[in-house]
Amino acid sequence: MLIGGLIYILDHTIHIGDIFTIYSYAIQLTSQLKIIIEINIILKDIDTSLNRILNFISKFEVDDKEIDLNFKINSICARDINFKYNENYIFKNMKFNVNKNDIIAIKGRNGSGKTSLMKLICGFYHVDNLFLNEIPQNILTEKQILNRVAYVPQNIYLFPDSIINNISCFGKTSKESVYKICKDLNIHEKIISLENGYDTIINDKNLNLSGGEKQIICIARALLKDSDILLLDEINSALDSSMEENIINNIKKYYKDKIVFIISHKDKILEQCNKVINIDDFKVK
Ligand SMILES: Nc1ncnc2c1ncn2[C@@H]1O[C@H](COP(=O)(O)OP(=O)(O)OP(=O)(O)O)[C@@H](O)[C@H]1O
Ligand SMILES: [Mg+2]
Repeated sequence: MLIGGLIYILDHTIHIGDIFTIYSYAIQLTSQLKIIIEINIILKDIDTSLNRILNFISKFEVDDKEIDLNFKINSICARDINFKYNENYIFKNMKFNVNKNDIIAIKGRNGSGKTSLMKLICGFYHVDNLFLNEIPQNILTEKQILNRVAYVPQNIYLFPDSIINNISCFGKTSKESVYKICKDLNIHEKIISLENGYDTIINDKNLNLSGGEKQIICIARALLKDSDILLLDEINSALDSSMEENIINNIKKYYKDKIVFIISHKDKILEQCNKVINIDDFKVK
């Protein structure tokens, strides 16, 4: 081809300069083509990533729809659970079996792992040998479990928003049901006595609500969620005894046919429970 080209150059009127011009145009053209090819590859990557994201989102929707239709937690069974943070075991070989209609007291010393057990039941950590309706906890997502759990943590959390939004979880339950639960929990009169009533914004500067009243608002939210499982982590720490009794009665009413776990150091509350899990029985020696 090279020799053929040389003969053509010598025999005809094409000069070496023309060849260089054509060559430099060819190089420019190749670099433009290279850019087009690279853009095409990037576009393909974007397309693949977008498809993955869409698949992921639709999978979530399908999972949730399927589970909402078929899955209500009626039993929780621990068959030798071992749980540790980093390398430190909190408990080993824990066993228990609870069913709907059970109210279970979780007992143990400070730091024994009571709150940690609640976090396992919520799905915040995955663990082997824990079964929800015989489904291994570690194949369920945190979201799938949390949809079926109402958790009132030891350190209560309220959104910096109105009382009504805090209890109804931003309109997920009707205003009427919020008023009803607040009347049942004896907090309605207090709320309507505030200048902005149920629209009062809760924040750190707002001292219109006491610690105990804020705790009742958290409990109202959990009772209204109407989940399969209710977890109450030391809810009574800021409540007086008449309020405690009223709350226990409402828990029994709103969470009838469900599973309720309570952490408490008060005998009066523990008397209401029909089962006990004592974490100290499973502590690591
Ligand atoms: N995220 C974490 N990472 C590491 N260690 C943790 C973590 N959370 C808790 N722990 C440790 O695990 C142990 C059990 O904690 P947990 O809060 O479950 O105890 P508890 O029984 O609820 O205590 P209390 O009665 O004081 O509320 C404690 O020693 C705690 O320091
Ligand atoms: Mg705790």
